[in-house]
Amino acid sequence: MQLFLDTAHIAEIEEALTWGFIDGVTTNPAHVAKTQQRPADLYPRIVEMVDGPVSLETVTLTAGEIVDEALRLADYGENVIVKVPVMKEGLMAVEELSRRGIKTNVTVCYSPLQALLAAKAGATYVSPFVGRLDSVGHNGVELVDQIRTIYGNYGYGTQIIVAAVRHPMHILDSAVLGADVATASFDIMKSLWEHPLTDLGIQMFLDAWSEVPK
Ligand code: E4P
Repeated sequence: MQLFLDTAHIAEIEEALTWGFIDGVTTNPAHVAKTQQRPADLYPRIVEMVDGPVSLETVTLTAGEIVDEALRLADYGENVIVKVPVMKEGLMAVEELSRRGIKTNVTVCYSPLQALLAAKAGATYVSPFVGRLDSVGHNGVELVDQIRTIYGNYGYGTQIIVAAVRHPMHILDSAVLGADVATASFDIMKSLWEHPLTDLGIQMFLDAWSEVPK
């Protein structure tokens, strides 16, 4: 399973890349807004830092505008994945972009049928927002399961990025289901290795080691 960092924060990306298990980055307009930096300054830096896929999101609403915006974003580097919301005009744009060899991430996905259309449009990735579904009483991980089954049934190559991750169990459950990627915040990524029993176990070994004659 690939793990992407869900942020536009340079310092977080810098530190997370030192961990050795971050395979890419996903940004979105809300992440960019938090940095208070101009996208034209921020995007090239992120794209250069990361040796893996970097999702940059379009913010226009018609297919023609989305394609133009996507082409500009794709110019930032070969590892750019253009993130496009799953709406009619977005899917039309994704079809055109996939014909032109531009990689896409169909985002804000809440239903298996949206994911089916994303695959038919030739999306490279689809991003089901599991945590946001859970928060309105639907089962986000079940959506991942349905998408995995549909893609398996028809042999679609679109990869599933589990997004809007709220806790480590979202990643564990999605990994068991065979999701290709999970994207999560800096803090959730850190929680993947943290365990109180591990800390205790390490301390016990260090205490024992101090008793060993040297
Ligand atoms: C993923 O690509 C999205 O940017 C992100 O996971 C959105 O989730 P949020 O609900 O945390 O904003």
